[in-house]
Amino acid sequence: MQEKQQEIIAMFDDIAGSYDLANRVMSCGIDIAWRKKACEIAFENLPQERLKSLQIADIACGTGDMISHWQKNAMRKNVCIESIIGLDPSEGMLNVARKKLPQIEFVQCEATKLPLESASRDIISIAYGIRNVVERKRALEEFARVIRVGGILVILEFTKCENPSLLERLMGFYTKNILPFVGGIVSKNYRAYRYLPDSIEEFLTAEKLNEELREVGFSPLFTKAFSANVCTLFIAKRL
Ligand SMILES: C[S@@+](CC[C@H](N)C(=O)[O-])C[C@H]1O[C@@H](n2cnc3c(N)ncnc32)[C@H](O)[C@@H]1O
Repeated sequence: MQEKQQEIIAMFDDIAGSYDLANRVMSCGIDIAWRKKACEIAFENLPQERLKSLQIADIACGTGDMISHWQKNAMRKNVCIESIIGLDPSEGMLNVARKKLPQIEFVQCEATKLPLESASRDIISIAYGIRNVVERKRALEEFARVIRVGGILVILEFTKCENPSLLERLMGFYTKNILPFVGGIVSKNYRAYRYLPDSIEEFLTAEKLNEELREVGFSPLFTKAFSANVCTLFIAKRL
């Protein structure tokens, strides 16, 4: 298990330098709308009082994209972020993040062992990260430990689609065949981008992930699939 996890982290180290460019080319920028929606719905589901001094942790933060989105959307919505921290096990991804966002604290660690106090955050986000965590259940339990009661967990992820419609099959073809090809060209690491569709295939359906969230103490509040089920946004409240 640990070997597989270390291979995944090493793969992100390898592609860190081209990750942002590959992401933008592959998604044609559409992920920006998904990230914005994630921030907005998280804010809407917190009491007004908490929006005056939010404490946020972004897990599997990679090159820091989600942190920038938290900051931008907080400004737009008049929300005050008191503290925001990015955590990721890949030194390569964190190096890029530190250059882009020098004022933000980044910590190298896995989602299964967060160096954060219990009940210390209002929001935990993990964008396109949970699929890469081999010991997922342990990570979800960690999130439940760190989020305050009433706090919000935000997950953006590529989920598996059962009984896909024609449009969903077309999008599946794009994800399985076109994306790895484009990502491979931009990063010159075809293997890393072959991993993307394989990991989606091995991952859960949205229903199954919500079940796992309930098992560790979350109440799913909002689940929405975007772009013919390519990506799903999960918003869950810590009970
Ligand atoms: C597809 S990137 C997503 C990065 C960023 N969140 C974003 O939205 O662009 C996946 C990230 O998951 C991280 N990762 C892999 N294994 C992990 C683990 N066990 N715990 C936490 N993060 C992990 C990788 O290092 C990588 O930065």
